[in-house]
Amino acid sequence: MQSDPKDVEIVRRLLARRGEVVSGEEIAIPLGISRVALWKRIRTLKKSGINIKVVPRRGYMLDNIEHDALLPPLVLSELKTSEFGRNYHYFDVIDSTNDYALKLLGEKALHGTVVVADHQTKGRGRLSRVWYSPPGKNLYLSVIVRPFVPVSLAFRVTMFSSCAVCELLRELGMNALIKWPNDVYVSGKKISGILTEASVEASGNVKFYVVGIGINVNMAYSDFPIDIRDFATSVMIEKGEPVPRRKLFLRLMELLEKWYNICLINVEEAWMYWRRYNYTLGKRVVVDEKVTGEAIGVTPMGYLLVRLDDGKVERVVAGDLQVVD
Ligand code: BTN
Repeated sequence: MQSDPKDVEIVRRLLARRGEVVSGEEIAIPLGISRVALWKRIRTLKKSGINIKVVPRRGYMLDNIEHDALLPPLVLSELKTSEFGRNYHYFDVIDSTNDYALKLLGEKALHGTVVVADHQTKGRGRLSRVWYSPPGKNLYLSVIVRPFVPVSLAFRVTMFSSCAVCELLRELGMNALIKWPNDVYVSGKKISGILTEASVEASGNVKFYVVGIGINVNMAYSDFPIDIRDFATSVMIEKGEPVPRRKLFLRLMELLEKWYNICLINVEEAWMYWRRYNYTLGKRVVVDEKVTGEAIGVTPMGYLLVRLDDGKVERVVAGDLQVVD
């Protein structure tokens, strides 16, 4: 579901005077539409789930806004970015936002296009894992990013995204840390995962990247499947109260745009942030139950450097990493 700019403007005007009755004329005239056309649009907006009250002979009012709703007019009327999220595709339910972005939007999509779902039936994680994606609780989104680095440096795409998620959670007062290669952790548990995928031409050039981000927002301990319950956390668990999903999403768009631009202009600044809030470096780690040692660094290509117990340094390209102390 996408949104017509006039619908976005209607919602923006009602939101600006939230709780007040706004007459049909006050909205219809500046939009250059008739009052009947306005009424039709309001009826469609109401059907899509936006709770606009119709006050007979006086006008329209928006008061009780669903803070968790990610419907396009609500998001777009409050979005402050210049590119990220401006092209917004929303689904109540989808198999995977990454699949949609890769296969169906593809090259046609503008840089910063975002695919969002309330529920994913086949949410995917790294290493062919499942990303648990129940409805009404979390954020599941995929951002299409214009290639700014070759596929060999795709790690930078993951890096700018994990810096953005980390800063988002830190702004909420959490001690969020980035775990190599693409997870964000709070209180030693996973709160967010990022899956970066590239669409590559036969020549090897990247056509575009898709950055898939899942953030556990309003999950209670018992909402997680039993096997991950003790290793996962959510914003609500950490804050002790539910958090409005839309506000979180809107801020995430701003931070993704900010960190994308930082990566373009001065990648060293992003590296500094990534290293500063790192959960892996300096720790004893085990990768794929094979490589054990101290994580001592990350190469520009994103490989993890592990100093083994015999002093040799091993370069780990990918894998399942556990921090053991
Ligand atoms: C991981 O930690 O393994 C990465 C998880 C990425 C999950 C997100 S949710 C939105 C997007 N769509 C998907 O199918 N996966 C990513």
